[in-house]
Amino acid sequence: MAKEFKRYLVTSALPYANGPVHIGHLAGVYIPSDIYTRYLRLKGCDVISVCGSDEHGVPITIKARKEGVSPQAIVDRYHALIKRSFERLGMSFDIYSRTSSETHAKTASEFFRKLYDDGKFIEKTSEQYYDTEADTFLADRYIVGTCPKCGNERAYGDQCEACGSTLSPDELINPHSAVSGSVPVKKKTTHWYLPLDQYEGFLREWILEGHKEWKTNVYGQCKSWLDGGLQPRAVSRDLDWGIPVPVEGAEGKVLYVWFDAPIGYISATKDLTPDWEKYWKSEDTKLVHFIGKDNIVFHCIVFPSMLKAHGGYILPENVPSNEFLNLEGDKISTSRNWAVWLHEYLDEFPGKEDVLRYVLCANAPETKDNDFTWKDFQSRNNSELVAVLGNFVNRALVLTQKYFDGVVPACGDLTDYDRETIREMSEVKARLEDNIEHYHFREALKDAMNFSRIGNKYLADTEPWKVWKTDPKRVETILNIALQITANTAIAIEPFMPFSAEKILRMLQLENFGWERMGATDLVEDGHRIGKPELLFEKIEDDVIQKQLDKLAATKAANQAAEAAQNIEPQKESVSFDDFQKMDIRVSTILEAEKVAKTKKLLKLTIDTGIDKRVIVSGIAEHFTPEELVGRQVLVLVNLEPRMLRGIESKGMILMAEDASGKLRLLQPDDKVTCGAQVG
Ligand code: 2FM
Ligand code: ZN
Repeated sequence: MAKEFKRYLVTSALPYANGPVHIGHLAGVYIPSDIYTRYLRLKGCDVISVCGSDEHGVPITIKARKEGVSPQAIVDRYHALIKRSFERLGMSFDIYSRTSSETHAKTASEFFRKLYDDGKFIEKTSEQYYDTEADTFLADRYIVGTCPKCGNERAYGDQCEACGSTLSPDELINPHSAVSGSVPVKKKTTHWYLPLDQYEGFLREWILEGHKEWKTNVYGQCKSWLDGGLQPRAVSRDLDWGIPVPVEGAEGKVLYVWFDAPIGYISATKDLTPDWEKYWKSEDTKLVHFIGKDNIVFHCIVFPSMLKAHGGYILPENVPSNEFLNLEGDKISTSRNWAVWLHEYLDEFPGKEDVLRYVLCANAPETKDNDFTWKDFQSRNNSELVAVLGNFVNRALVLTQKYFDGVVPACGDLTDYDRETIREMSEVKARLEDNIEHYHFREALKDAMNFSRIGNKYLADTEPWKVWKTDPKRVETILNIALQITANTAIAIEPFMPFSAEKILRMLQLENFGWERMGATDLVEDGHRIGKPELLFEKIEDDVIQKQLDKLAATKAANQAAEAAQNIEPQKESVSFDDFQKMDIRVSTILEAEKVAKTKKLLKLTIDTGIDKRVIVSGIAEHFTPEELVGRQVLVLVNLEPRMLRGIESKGMILMAEDASGKLRLLQPDDKVTCGAQVG
């Protein structure tokens, strides 16, 4: 027997305020959480949904330092941007708070202090990297060096972004400080640790025994953490941005961002309502955390252990977490600008908020990583939203205008087919509810869309435009039912596409219904006058999609150029002018070119150097075909000592440029020059 709850507390992972929100965040966390919350509200449940900006942590300080501004300026900028973008997308948080707020500082400090006073922490002194020039301890992210796994020279102390390895600062070769560039030294520092190992028994029982219903990716990750053995985790850091550790002698230390951030859910609730304890401390409350998969350990292992250590708080009933969304086949990346940014989408696609909500839910990475493509976005809009949902609503309204002047006709005797259609709506409703309650939002969206599929089929099968000539009375019933289905559609899609639901109701000239009214056939009363039909969705043309693809292609090209620029070989040792003068470089023309038999790389080139005609053997067969070389002017080092290659004497070297990817290009004069002209 499932437990009955009196109220719901829905939390959505607090986004870091160091960059805008992208479609990966939306598909993973925010769209599912909003669907769930809107559904509960429509059902009339006591529900609150809290979120806010996560404004601490090292990446924010790094960004501030790079821009030469304060961390507060960074979080102010992104908090405002994220908050506004969420509002524009129709996210219906009851509060969007922030962790730099006073309430939060007080709540998080008190939380820490209680655990400290109750002896829940252990104190440990260890050696950590310290930058003597900048006079500061270095967070792992602030230490850069060579990755021991792939040789990338710009790996961080916690991760190598080139090969994806998780690292610790001690593993880096040639570590140096990202703050001053100096070589850091090891220095002793003391921190507080939450001994997670002591919570293992509790966590095993609570999750592995008590929550077998959690999504397999969540349950599986928890099990593997628990089976791997939990270690004490530091809950403080040496940093000057964050909530000061509220203990005497802890100057220069702040709470670790992953200690304070989840407490942000509590402070946000406090800012929302003086009744906050009802939501956090009563077993009648169902607490649900919506998160991305990289947050699972913090929400299922660390935060519950903190809550348990504190006492008095409820634990989450479920932690629905999605996998990752990729973009056009590549991992979404903030640093590589490989993303569809929410605020840009909203600017570029005004009035199409629901299209994004729809596509991201229809394609949500619920059980595995998924891919967002602009082509799929276009096709879902054109063949699902326009052709199915928009088409049905439009037909029902237009036909009512046409035959009854916009006045809802009465429902007469029902045929068996009418009854079957009505029963089908009730069945879809039951499935839809079940899917939402089990966090299967993709399936739930299909159910919601099924109302309009049922409606389209009903109109196609009953053909009111034909029946009108012979039996107008029957058309009254058909359109009455079609309008009931339209109103039902508005209820069903509200959690997913609130703007469109509202528009349907506006066109029907009706107020919002509660969820429980779904399935009813008296939502639209006869005699009621409906409003003017408008199109619910518009077709998206190819050029609009191409523009987005071009934008991504430009990003890719810029990334490749930046990468190539970073891989430039350092300058070689100096040479004297006399040494340089010794090299005899001449403009030459390639007269003949052929592959050297039984080799993959060698070409035999006959060239006119102006001095003579000679043979040069060059290792460029994988880069150029013989045909494309004949007739080209090139630069040749003519006094290079001759060498024998595969039995052929090669006299000189053709000069070429090689970029970081190993691609070769010939160097040639910008205009035709007589062979033998000197270069220097
Ligand atoms: O991964 C993130 O984006 C974190 N800022 C999520 C924090 S969730 C919560 F604990 F606040
Ligand atoms: Zn690496």
